[in-house]
Amino acid sequence: MKYTEYDFNEKTILITGAAGFIGSNLCFYFQNNYPMAKIIALDSFRSGETLSNGNLKSFGHYKNLLGFKGTVISGDINDKELLNQIDEDYDFDFIFHEAAISDTTASEQDLMVKTNVNAYEDLLKMAINHNANMIYASSAATYGDAASPQTVGNENPGNVYGFSKLMMDNITYDYLKKDLDISIVGLRYFNVYGPREYYKNKTASTVIQFGHQILAGNTPKLFEGSDKILRDFIYIEDVIQANIKAATPKKSGIYNVGTGKARSFQDIADILQKELGTNLGTNYIPNPYIGQYQFHTEANIEDTKTYLEYAPKYEMEDGIKDYISEIKRIYEVEVK
Ligand SMILES: NC(=O)c1ccc[n+]([C@@H]2O[C@H](COP(=O)([O-])OP(=O)(O)OC[C@H]3O[C@@H](n4cnc5c(N)ncnc54)[C@H](O)[C@@H]3O)[C@@H](O)[C@H]2O)c1
Repeated sequence: MKYTEYDFNEKTILITGAAGFIGSNLCFYFQNNYPMAKIIALDSFRSGETLSNGNLKSFGHYKNLLGFKGTVISGDINDKELLNQIDEDYDFDFIFHEAAISDTTASEQDLMVKTNVNAYEDLLKMAINHNANMIYASSAATYGDAASPQTVGNENPGNVYGFSKLMMDNITYDYLKKDLDISIVGLRYFNVYGPREYYKNKTASTVIQFGHQILAGNTPKLFEGSDKILRDFIYIEDVIQANIKAATPKKSGIYNVGTGKARSFQDIADILQKELGTNLGTNYIPNPYIGQYQFHTEANIEDTKTYLEYAPKYEMEDGIKDYISEIKRIYEVEVK
């Protein structure tokens, strides 16, 4: 499905974080729709190295790229020599920058700021050098507990991850003051779910985690009051749509990428049980994060609609329906 009239065939596209959830979906979007596009997939892949919270330092997994026909480069975006080499070797038309410490619970402030903020500026300089439009992943985490609907300009990050994404956006605003020939778009994704997220392990969405609990015959475990914990959950297809439209925007800037509707964790469990034909009820557990938990996120997507012509297509019911066969396949192949 093509989301734009623009023809990406013959274009050279750098995708960072390409072995991760969103980056790999972008790789396949271009491969499937624009077979003559040259796709360079850069990722540090997983090494087994962990952060102090026990999670992997990088979640890239080769299985996300099985079937990919473009060029794969294993490397760290913090490695300036590598970036210089890539800068010399290719002439990019677009950079889709998804690489990041994506773990919102990581506490290594040094690594987070270096990887998410400083490497972004290096890549942005590369984009300017090549006259390549830059599309990068910001995050709804920039809002922290700011009131719904979350709106660009009203941020309050609650952790170093959200801080790092906000600092990326500040860099963007700074560069946009210059008279550049390229467009720069930061996309503040809300809670994304969909195929190729499984290898994010514990940081994958609750959609696949509840899905696998149910497939194992277990009652899904939810925090008490989960019918009142609401988030703007967005299906990967709509995130891809936003990225493609952001490649040739009407206006550079920072945009929210959500559905504009808040749904509850209880809804996820209920829709999954309906799709999987189970009636296991719900197992409520106390919420240990009371006080530091976002209870209501909902993206204000007015500007995204206006300036990117973005139109989300997937209600949660549609997204889970589309995703369910992959949730089952992954369960068979990886979990059982
Ligand atoms: N998934 C979501 O709900 C969500 C929400 C908001 C923002 N985001 C942002 O979207 C982007 C993609 O997220 P995702 O969900 O696909 O996460 P992900 O962890 O699957 O993808 C990030 C990729 O970046 C790679 N990476 C990490 N450090 C790197 C480094 N130093 N050099 C090169 N590669 C490195 C990882 O190996 C991984 O493959 C990230 O920037 C993330 O912060 C995601």
